[in-house]
Amino acid sequence: MKILVVGSGGREHTLVWKLAQSKQVKQIFAAPGNAGIAEIAQCIDIAADDIKNLLHFVKDTQIDLTVVGPEAPLAGGIVDEFEKEGLRIFGPNALGARLEASKVFAKQIMMKAGVPTAQCEIFEDAQQAKDYIKAKGAPLVVKADGLAQGKGVIVAKTEQEAIDAVASIMENKIFGDAGNQVIIEECLTGEEASILAFCDGINFIPLASSQDHKRIFDNDQGPNTGGMGAYSPAPVISPKLMKEILNKIIKPVVDEMSKIGCPYKGLLYAGIMITKDGPKTLEFNVRFGDPETQVILPRLRTDLVKVMQAVIDGALDTIKLSWSKDSCVCIVASSGGYPGEYQKGKEISGLNDLKGRKGVMVFHAGTKSDNGKIVTSGGRVLGVTALGKDIRDAINNSYQAIEKIKFEGMHFRKDIGAKAIIE
Ligand code: AMP
Ligand code: GLY
Repeated sequence: MKILVVGSGGREHTLVWKLAQSKQVKQIFAAPGNAGIAEIAQCIDIAADDIKNLLHFVKDTQIDLTVVGPEAPLAGGIVDEFEKEGLRIFGPNALGARLEASKVFAKQIMMKAGVPTAQCEIFEDAQQAKDYIKAKGAPLVVKADGLAQGKGVIVAKTEQEAIDAVASIMENKIFGDAGNQVIIEECLTGEEASILAFCDGINFIPLASSQDHKRIFDNDQGPNTGGMGAYSPAPVISPKLMKEILNKIIKPVVDEMSKIGCPYKGLLYAGIMITKDGPKTLEFNVRFGDPETQVILPRLRTDLVKVMQAVIDGALDTIKLSWSKDSCVCIVASSGGYPGEYQKGKEISGLNDLKGRKGVMVFHAGTKSDNGKIVTSGGRVLGVTALGKDIRDAINNSYQAIEKIKFEGMHFRKDIGAKAIIE
């Protein structure tokens, strides 16, 4: 069969890498892909959110299965458009994608379904939001309702920070219409983890647990990023806690989505805080996490094509996932200055030294080919990933591997996975 993967990051490189291992797959395309993806798939110059041209391409090329990486095309209705044409595509429709595209919608679903989450109030008026902040006092978390490229959540330690966040989001509209509403919620504390589950509308199967590192600097210092590294499994998620998360968070949401006539198909990602009162939901994403995917899929033994087909066919009850006992760690190498301004076009060396090294995978994110060289083209550049017999071993293997990689301004955290060892 022929597969199209939509997107261009480390998550998409990992998806292509895993899908390519299926015996059922003859050819993989990626739109638009990156330099690493181009080594194992054919990259097509169509943007990930250009639904109309993706549809043309899929029809012309007779693609059998389309797998969507990022949230924007899902929220834009790519699945609805493809399904109208009878095409097979992995991901939720636009109504389902509201679980990520509207934090207000996600909160309403959680409240109706009795899912544990932070207490909150929803505002359409900036002044009322500010008055509420003054009455409540800090710390508080201010969230823009809509998609804001991961920047729409402000954890405010002071009242002034929270008020400034409301002003930026609702009055200065720094995220456009995504800031028509804000959620102001209590600030939770605890350890975070990501639980991902395949859902077919009725049935669901969890993937292995993982945890990402959102801040740019060691010891969780500095601004939030798309994710500077990840590890799997996350020891904080004991089998008992996993059961509790499935029963109290994933199942009620899947059931509630069905109940409102919007059965959820695809991958559901729950960002969870393990508080002293138990697991509470921070957010939902309607797609694979990045860089969580880079540490989860290398541990998955089951054919991913088979699983995705079962999701589309509503047949997840016939699937059992099998996992390697190995741990996996991914260290993201980023461009100097990221998540602020950074330069592009820096030549990357050392990639060939890692080719063929057992248990090591270098997933490309912001890279492109330039006259036979591979150069940087984004903030997050590479996810250097390694398996190991336990987390400590995987940490050692991934740090040994990243030593080989060099580019001007390269930055990476030195403490990826350290939290998993302390516990
Ligand atoms: P989100 O985009 O919703 O995942 O939020 C980004 C990050 O903000 C999360 O990973 C948490 O670290 C933090 N966050 C979100 N909601 C809360 C909350 N209610 N309390 C504390 N931290 C939060
Ligand atoms: N790693 C967080 C995300 O994918 O949104």
